[in-house]
Amino acid sequence: MDRKLLLEYVRVCEAAAIACSRSIGHGDKHGADQRAVTAMRRAFDRVPARGEIVIGEGEMDEAPMLYIGEKVGPDDPSLPEVDIAVDPLEGTNLTAKGMPGALTVLAVAEKGKLLRAPDMYMHKIAAGPEGRGVISLDKSPRENVNALAEAKGKRVHDMNVVLLDRPRHEAIIKELRLAGARVSLITDGDVNPTVACGLPDTGVDMYMGMGGAPEGVLGAAALKCLGGEYQGRLAFTHDGERERALAMGIEDPDAILTLEDIVRGECIFAATGVTRGALLAGAKVVGDQVRLNSIGLRSDSKTVRFFETWTHTDHLPVDEIPPSRS
Ligand code: FBP
Repeated sequence: MDRKLLLEYVRVCEAAAIACSRSIGHGDKHGADQRAVTAMRRAFDRVPARGEIVIGEGEMDEAPMLYIGEKVGPDDPSLPEVDIAVDPLEGTNLTAKGMPGALTVLAVAEKGKLLRAPDMYMHKIAAGPEGRGVISLDKSPRENVNALAEAKGKRVHDMNVVLLDRPRHEAIIKELRLAGARVSLITDGDVNPTVACGLPDTGVDMYMGMGGAPEGVLGAAALKCLGGEYQGRLAFTHDGERERALAMGIEDPDAILTLEDIVRGECIFAATGVTRGALLAGAKVVGDQVRLNSIGLRSDSKTVRFFETWTHTDHLPVDEIPPSRS
């Protein structure tokens, strides 16, 4: 994929982050999401690629913008066709409550190369490059943490595994702690720790547990760019979900989905911090500027780029200008 597109897609994440940063701490998760969606949708039209949303805000009848199947970008046949997965605001609760870790995020691959993951749960396991061929959803949590510790040359005692703090994870958490590992619990937003475990020095060794399948595709795309490991298996918790997975083209809904099943080919991953986090600083208003931190990854080159952007608010559409907080 054209490497110049990376910066364009970082801009798309930045636009969404600026817009929803107005909502940080205001207790309105739907308003925050809506702002991010509207700004992200608008920003896609400035990217020179013909995109199709394959993971977005839901079906066409559920979402007015960024719905599955929506075409974004100029309708110019000379432009490349791409699949796009988005989460305009990953961590709506985190944003509404002013808590750390919210991101605006997207992944892009050549047309037909991204898994069309249904909006349901997925069992997930993720690690950095040392986890390739080492971790597996077929292994127990203890086996996984022991194997990854050995591959990383670390003591199990020093391994940090991140999970969503949910009653459904009690048994896994107990097993990991009995194995001697550290467990860090998060309230929301599992893309953030998934990306973090692919980068050195973030303090995250492994992410595991059950979370959203769409977020699984975004996390997998990041780890593909970082040379890491990722596996997912759909988890059916409501009637009709298995049928829905089949209808969306997943041939064996019970199979483990490898990184190569989720992202078939090269991809781009971009994210911008909304609230501060271990990976990225949050959006911040300083005088008449909004300051943003983003990450941009390309699987072609495995390059990791961090961006710091200062945007003058007088260049922004009025409804995207965050109120001054400095
Ligand atoms: P939002 O859609 O509110 O931003 O929440 C995202 C998220 O926290 C994901 O990161 C995670 O995979 C999923 O929700 C967990 O779902 P649940 O809250 O139902 O356990």
